Amino acid sequence: MNPWQADADLVVIGSGVAGLTAALEASELGLRVLVVTKDARDAGSTRWAQGGIAVVLEDGHEPGDSVRKHVADTLAAAGGLADPESVATILADGPAAVAQLRRRGAVFDPAPGGLALTREGGHTAFRVVHAGGDATGAEVQRALLAAAGEVPILAEHLAVQVLLGGGEQPVSGEYGYSHTRHSQAVGVRVLDERGHPGIVHAPAVLLATGGYGQLFASTTNPDTATGDGLALALRAGAVAADLEFVQFHPTVLYTGPGARGRRPLVTEAVRGHGAVLVDGAGRRVMTGVHPLADLAPRDVVSAAIARRLAASGAPCVYLDATGIADFPTRFPTVHAACAAIGVDPVRDPIPVSPAAHYSCGGVLTDPAGRTTVPGLYAAGEVARSGLHGANRLASNSLLEGLVMGRRAASVVAAELAGPRPLPPVHRAGPGSGWPVFPVADRDLVQRTMSWGAAIGRDGAGLAAASDAIESALLPRPVIDRAGVEDAALTLIAQAVLVAAGTRTESRGCHVRTDFPETDDTYQRRSLLVRLVDGELTVRPAELTQVGAA
Ligand code: SIN
Repeated sequence: MNPWQADADLVVIGSGVAGLTAALEASELGLRVLVVTKDARDAGSTRWAQGGIAVVLEDGHEPGDSVRKHVADTLAAAGGLADPESVATILADGPAAVAQLRRRGAVFDPAPGGLALTREGGHTAFRVVHAGGDATGAEVQRALLAAAGEVPILAEHLAVQVLLGGGEQPVSGEYGYSHTRHSQAVGVRVLDERGHPGIVHAPAVLLATGGYGQLFASTTNPDTATGDGLALALRAGAVAADLEFVQFHPTVLYTGPGARGRRPLVTEAVRGHGAVLVDGAGRRVMTGVHPLADLAPRDVVSAAIARRLAASGAPCVYLDATGIADFPTRFPTVHAACAAIGVDPVRDPIPVSPAAHYSCGGVLTDPAGRTTVPGLYAAGEVARSGLHGANRLASNSLLEGLVMGRRAASVVAAELAGPRPLPPVHRAGPGSGWPVFPVADRDLVQRTMSWGAAIGRDGAGLAAASDAIESALLPRPVIDRAGVEDAALTLIAQAVLVAAGTRTESRGCHVRTDFPETDDTYQRRSLLVRLVDGELTVRPAELTQVGAA
């Protein structure tokens, strides 16, 4: 079957906060934009975000709060691995990005004199704006989709491969790697909703595909979060960083043994309103663990819960929110999820346990969203922009999507303003065969990662998990959504295991039981590349080496 063809200046893969923001901005800057998304337009992670957007608004912040304090909290949570300059500039751009979002129609919960502010783990001030109580992501998604009006969005279209063009050239010395790659991204290979192959030619490809929570058996992420964008980037030769840092959210509703797939989140804002974690005997979990107690950064709280569960053998701890009288109206989403399992948070402690939530690492980008492959950009959870380091501060991610989406659009527009001939497609052009990748069964990957690479990893478990995945690999042509997702999950499982095995210390959300201490010699990024022969290799890089090639 001959592939259908389309042309754009910028093809955006993903229709969450980062992708739609970039698409809107680029369209306003005069670019021909095409958004490609594999599911319904609102099916990604954005709409599930509860707590809110962390931002210090110029005209409505807690007295004494400042962007400088937001920066300090972000760096403190990040375990020494955030890029201070990226943190400072992204957070400084936050108020303007939120103002733009409000101009585009997003409505946040009001309070006398401004917007209502809440607090979450790791924040030393009330600085999280929210919508619909605990439905912030849904409002952001709604507003951006409504604003996107004229921007073409191809829903149910699956990106299979980044097309590369230009001559093959040696890349030596780039972060210590020597390999060859084609000189630039020139488009993307797509399957449409009927499974018909297509090619979108574009001199700029923006990955905004979200994270890879579905790597684990239990996650807050929707089914779409299979790491497709990271896999596309790795196969295109891009450098990734810090993939070992998978954040587990501490308070995910415990719905019974063996729960799989997406589980309901219980937002940290519930603790911001005074709820506390207790075990089955009513003993506080966070007392004496951290000065911020129940509002400690997320990695600290999740690890403390994991230790308490391991010690007691219990499947869950409890969030006591019985002091929050207006729970049903302030947290309607959480209230409904609790009601569905017969729990009334006004009277009953909420059973919770940690689950995979956020990928702190990702495709390495510079502060404008450029990856190490010319023409390929990344924004949002798929990217490693330097904001999160070893542990993301709560509610910094929607903000990052807004800011980095805008920046990526601006840099693409600036770069396309000059002469930029599109070289012919080198690989996977029209008529060439579909890629065949080594793929392990998804269920096996998820179970393996859950026992081998969750909170409290060790060298033996990581090695056994790698062996289990390697021995399950079978070559599979990637011709449908399940194939693309399974191939992505397999590659990312291998990458996370390699990265986690290499970092022989504990830092942020990378908790190793065999190396429980933080080791200063590891205060550096782990850069990971997939070489042309498929080998995954990790190299350290100093934090001062900011930005991409
Ligand atoms: C939450 O509401 O607890 C999640 C917010 C986030 O992940 O930033």
